[in-house]
Amino acid sequence: MRSLFHSLALLVALLARVASAVHTVEVQGQSFVDTVTKKRLMVIGVDYQPGGQAGYKPQEGRDPLSEVDICLRDAIMLQRLGVNTIRVYNVDPTLNHDECASIFNAAGIYMIIDVNGPFSGESINRAEPWTSYHEDYLKRIFGVVENFMGYPNTLGFFAANEVMNDMDTGKVNPQYIRAVQRDLKNYIKNHADRTIPVGYSAADVREILQDTWAYLQCAHDDDQSSSDFFGLNSYSWCGGDATFESAQYDVLVDMFKNSSIPVFFSEYGCNEVKPRVFDEVQALYGEQMTVLSGGLVYEYSQEESDYGLAIINDNGTVTLRVDYDNLQEQFNKLDMARIESLNPTATSIDAPECTSRLITNQAFDTNFTIPDVCPGCADLIENGIDNPTRGQLVEVTATEAPNAIYGSTGTEVEGLTLKLLPNDEANGPSGETTSPSGTGTGSAAEPSKTGAASKITGGWGLLVAVFFALLTAL
Ligand SMILES: *[C@@H]1O[C@H](CO)[C@@H](O)[C@H](O)[C@H]1NC(C)=O
Ligand SMILES: *[C@@H]1O[C@H](CO)[C@@H](O)[C@H](O)[C@H]1NC(C)=O
Ligand SMILES: *[C@@H]1O[C@H](CO)[C@@H](O)[C@H](O)[C@H]1NC(C)=O
Repeated sequence: MRSLFHSLALLVALLARVASAVHTVEVQGQSFVDTVTKKRLMVIGVDYQPGGQAGYKPQEGRDPLSEVDICLRDAIMLQRLGVNTIRVYNVDPTLNHDECASIFNAAGIYMIIDVNGPFSGESINRAEPWTSYHEDYLKRIFGVVENFMGYPNTLGFFAANEVMNDMDTGKVNPQYIRAVQRDLKNYIKNHADRTIPVGYSAADVREILQDTWAYLQCAHDDDQSSSDFFGLNSYSWCGGDATFESAQYDVLVDMFKNSSIPVFFSEYGCNEVKPRVFDEVQALYGEQMTVLSGGLVYEYSQEESDYGLAIINDNGTVTLRVDYDNLQEQFNKLDMARIESLNPTATSIDAPECTSRLITNQAFDTNFTIPDVCPGCADLIENGIDNPTRGQLVEVTATEAPNAIYGSTGTEVEGLTLKLLPNDEANGPSGETTSPSGTGTGSAAEPSKTGAASKITGGWGLLVAVFFALLTAL
């Protein structure tokens, strides 16, 4: 009886775990590709930093992926919105992120993690990069790698964000970004059981944009220092009157058509015209722009900078903004079959060898001698950091929204639950609306339908698992 119980419990646990894992994703040419289905993964994403920079509180043991109820609440709303990826800017490598990472994983949502932090010593100092590239800094960023490398839904790591923001900062920082990328990639190679891409997130400063991309993607003696992907924080499409040309998307397509690595918007969503209608979504995922791999809307939560899709109230409830409804409506219009089916091998271009000829403005960095590994750092890369906090998936059991969610007109949205997606599935647009009555498409939503359906599916899964466990045991 004991062994029956044992094998039953084991099997249920096993099925629960297996059923909740998304496929890992790798870079092939200009695309992110699902390693199993070989379909292209277009990033349909949202930047996620509830509380803004203040949401990162290592002193109090908190960061955006440390509180299970908050992650569940927000994962439900992001899943429903239709996203397959979030970007998280500031994480504490000593915290346990298992529950949050597992919730997003079960929802079919990948994570791109910034390895840096907002405090001194947690990032490269653009004024004097050589002073910030040292052993303690690498311990932090390797800690982030250790923490997140065990989750299948870790899509990639940002080695740096907007370090170069003008010609002046473009003079010497690119070398240090490449040094950090090299060290991260070698660390991953030595200590992770799969390849996880590493890249850079660039400010949209047209004076240095092309040179930044050219500098970071070129091939340099196989030293691992090149970017595996390139993120662009793009705010050039403002409001319903903007066009492909007025937003200069045509310029971007021209600039990146030769890219040897995936390029995507690591932030987008100009807020000069409010509420945002997100017409750029159709352009970004349209046939004219297949060279890009999608993007992440800035940002989930309403903060001082006024880019939120949702207001997080003090009592933990969430009130959606019209921006959420508008974005959901845009995502629902996407032709996912076309988007995923693009042949990744059709856009495979070898990176050119690094040379100053790639750089259009000689005031930008043309020195391709990458700084030596910092003192004491080679040993870290070889043998790993001491006592890392390593993450791994855990079973997701709670699926009910822990807090009330109000639509953009203030009416509560009923019956919201996390849909545990079957093995291998990335999340996608749901085809549904969320805010009850008056907004979005103008028709009232029937919000409880998916919730109910998923609960039934979950119930059947368990039943089948129990049945097979009994069968095996007898
Ligand atoms: C792209 O490649 C073509 C052909 O190799 C070349 O003529 C063109 O200058 C390249 N464009 C950029 C922006 O690098
Ligand atoms: C939570 O706060 C919001 C905003 O102040 C309010 O509208 C809502 O009624 C509150 N809900 C609960 C359950 O206290
Ligand atoms: C190029 O960069 C390396 C270190 O990355 C440095 O040692 C060297 O002095 C630089 N060369 C020039 C000409 O500035």
